[in-house]
Amino acid sequence: MLDPNTIAKEAIEEAEKAESSRALYEVKMKYLGRGGTVTSLLKNMREVPPEERPAFGKAVNFLRDTLEAHFASLEEKLKEKETLQKLAEERIDVTLPGKKRDMGAIHPVTRVKNELVDLFMGLGFEVFDGPEIESEYYNFTALNTPADHPARDMQDTFYITNEFLLRTQTSAGQIRVMESKKPPIKIVSPGRTFRSDDDATHSPMFHQMEGLVVDKGITLCDLYGTLEEFARTMFSPSVKTRLRPSYFPFTEPSVEVDISCFACGGKGCSLCKGTGWIEVLGAGMVNRRVLENCGIDPDEYTGFAFGIGLERIAMLKYGVNNIKLFTENDVRFLKQFRD
Ligand code: DAH
Repeated sequence: MLDPNTIAKEAIEEAEKAESSRALYEVKMKYLGRGGTVTSLLKNMREVPPEERPAFGKAVNFLRDTLEAHFASLEEKLKEKETLQKLAEERIDVTLPGKKRDMGAIHPVTRVKNELVDLFMGLGFEVFDGPEIESEYYNFTALNTPADHPARDMQDTFYITNEFLLRTQTSAGQIRVMESKKPPIKIVSPGRTFRSDDDATHSPMFHQMEGLVVDKGITLCDLYGTLEEFARTMFSPSVKTRLRPSYFPFTEPSVEVDISCFACGGKGCSLCKGTGWIEVLGAGMVNRRVLENCGIDPDEYTGFAFGIGLERIAMLKYGVNNIKLFTENDVRFLKQFRD
């Protein structure tokens, strides 16, 4: 049987060598744990002669209490040391420069679209979203452009099948709206359009925003007033608007809309090619045949429509000279549109 004093000495020596609270815990378990040295002393009490038992019991209890107190004070010191160590390791240098995160910017075409939607919603228009894959009927036939119509050549179409194509114009949405809704109608319809066309100002995928108003007594004056508001808001309050006769199968009369050059004030410069005017969009009074195709009586209702090329507006507004810049995703270009 081991002598309690020897055990005490050994246990204390071992405990003092422990360099972490974890190691100390192991020493503690070795002596005071369930199968530990001190605990087994008490368990083996039977081996002690009966007359020595009280003294032995007292000595072992004293040993246990002493060790417990000693371990506790060592543990406290180790824990404190460990906390300080942890704090030192986790120290943050708040003077280090932060990580720079680059902010994105709204794409200029999206920006133009948002501005236009805001403007037209303010004038009481609703937004209609038409499909990008259209049938020939909606994209052409119902818009008074039958199969043999020369105006079909104005737009180089991507056909998917004989019947389906990628819409060449958001005008297709006009028909969908008029088929499903009775006048008064007042919508704009922004979206992607597609044509087999590719140069500095044309891209196979581009964006348009269609406008359509149908009601009793709508005249060309209403169109003019709406477009003046558009030109003033998008370009400058001093910009003038003029309508020039043109041709589109779905409008009669049809007009081309020019604005006075906002760069030179109309004197003539490189932007307006010396004319003082810049062509911005096509428009007109909805052709009676188009109204008829949608079951709207052209003797009761009239309407106007317009189609805005969003890239064209963005190029003019931001002085972009090549349409490809919009789809190249060069961050140096896009960054210039940050707020
Ligand atoms: N859809 C025509 C185009 O893509 C633009 C256009 C012209 C739309 C006159 C209209 C309009 O609604 O009335 O070239």
